Amino acid sequence: MSETIETSSETITLTIDGQEIQAEAGQTILQAAQKNGIYIPTLCALHATKENGLESDIAPGTCRICTVKVNGRTMAACTTPVAQGFVVENDTEELNDLRKTIVELLFVEGNHFCPSCEKSGSCDLQALAYRYQMLSPRFRYAFSSREVNAESPKLLFDRNRCILCRRCVLAITTEDGKQLFGFTKRGDKSGIIMDEELVKNISEEQAQQAMHICPVGAIIRKEKGFDTPFGQRKYDHNPIGSETVCTTCNGEKS
Ligand code: SF4
Ligand code: SF4
Ligand code: FES
Repeated sequence: MSETIETSSETITLTIDGQEIQAEAGQTILQAAQKNGIYIPTLCALHATKENGLESDIAPGTCRICTVKVNGRTMAACTTPVAQGFVVENDTEELNDLRKTIVELLFVEGNHFCPSCEKSGSCDLQALAYRYQMLSPRFRYAFSSREVNAESPKLLFDRNRCILCRRCVLAITTEDGKQLFGFTKRGDKSGIIMDEELVKNISEEQAQQAMHICPVGAIIRKEKGFDTPFGQRKYDHNPIGSETVCTTCNGEKS
């Protein structure tokens, strides 16, 4: 399982949905797709940007929303390195139905009441539900009741919205490298724990970064959650997937 990704300069040729693209050895299928302006959905993998403060891409490989078929076999695009001649299927009815199923399962597994959620309009899970036209999940709700921790002066941590993506575990650290979030237990008991002592003293930038990195509304910067007005939220004008721009042609082809 890949968590941070390194590349080299050898050129690899592969196809995604019949389109021939070039990639660097060591890149994942997801990175190659993003570089060529091809959208593959993600929830746990995150491309490093100045805005999110990451120094390199992360790919915990936990959500499986990026599942593609590689030479006929299902693989996670964010953790599978490219190889010469790969034939990748991505935007197909079968894979999109699988992705819709994952979104539905995530909705029923937690408690998601979008109209009252601070992340609504900027939430990747909600945006994917719109993308895959989820009206009502086909599965029974689990009605989970997990602890909501509001003790930190800067962060609200609502485990009922957490999708266990592990982004926070990998990406949110103190200046001296201590992790603020950790993973605990296994199976249906697994969850995220927050180091309450460390979180008490985090800076404004770290608190903002934590909220930004969480793809859903599990980590919310207190007093800032509803700051972005309707019409200016992340997905108010451009649905998820529309932001992918080919970095080779600067969007001229897409
Ligand atoms: S975290 Fe996302 S999906 Fe869940 S309630 Fe908030 S907006 Fe809706
Ligand atoms: S708190 Fe957010 S970032 Fe951390 S595992 Fe849960 S959903 Fe992912
Ligand atoms: S984005 Fe690939 S497993 Fe989550």
